[in-house]
Amino acid sequence: MLVGAIPERVRWTVANMAVRPGDRLLEIGCGRGAAVSLVCDRLRSGQITAIDRSLTMVKFAEQRNAEHVAAGRAVFQTTALDAADLPARKFDKVFAVNVNLFWVRSSASDLEIVRRLLKPSGAMFLTYEPPTPGRAEAIAGRIAGFLTEQRFEVTTTYGTTHRSALVSLVAKPVPGR
Ligand SMILES: C[S@@+](CC[C@H](N)C(=O)[O-])C[C@H]1O[C@@H](n2cnc3c(N)ncnc32)[C@H](O)[C@@H]1O
Repeated sequence: MLVGAIPERVRWTVANMAVRPGDRLLEIGCGRGAAVSLVCDRLRSGQITAIDRSLTMVKFAEQRNAEHVAAGRAVFQTTALDAADLPARKFDKVFAVNVNLFWVRSSASDLEIVRRLLKPSGAMFLTYEPPTPGRAEAIAGRIAGFLTEQRFEVTTTYGTTHRSALVSLVAKPVPGR
């Protein structure tokens, strides 16, 4: 199967997450599964659950990661985040790369789902590669404002790719809610 190159934004995101061998991760909007492959190379006892609402994408991602699925390191579900059946307080890291979550619509209910899924020590990692580099700061500002309002502590980092800019937001739930 032709698996395709791993985009710079995906490499950047996985490097920024500092995946540990025993981590439990959730990827929202896994697309063709490039990040799952990179994450699984870093896992030993850990596991990644990857969801996408597109069955076509999940099929591509499962094929690409067949070896990791067989070994129990990767699990896929075809579902949108707000319909996913996932265990609470299970995940060390929840991440999404170029998924419109909290960008085009600031959904408090989606964020509440993420808060419920994360372990208390966990964090959410969001990466965006905007169509034009000039939009990076506006996107980051909008999302960071929303996350802060919803009681997440946010760290924003910027990067570049050969074609655009990158924004990474790391969001940790503020305890007491
Ligand atoms: C632009 S693609 C990005 C794919 C991959 N993360 C990447 O960076 O190449 C966005 C993906 O997120 C999925 N998606 C969008 N909203 C979603 C949601 N609420 N829950 C699950 N998947 C979602 C889409 O089906 C699509 O495959």
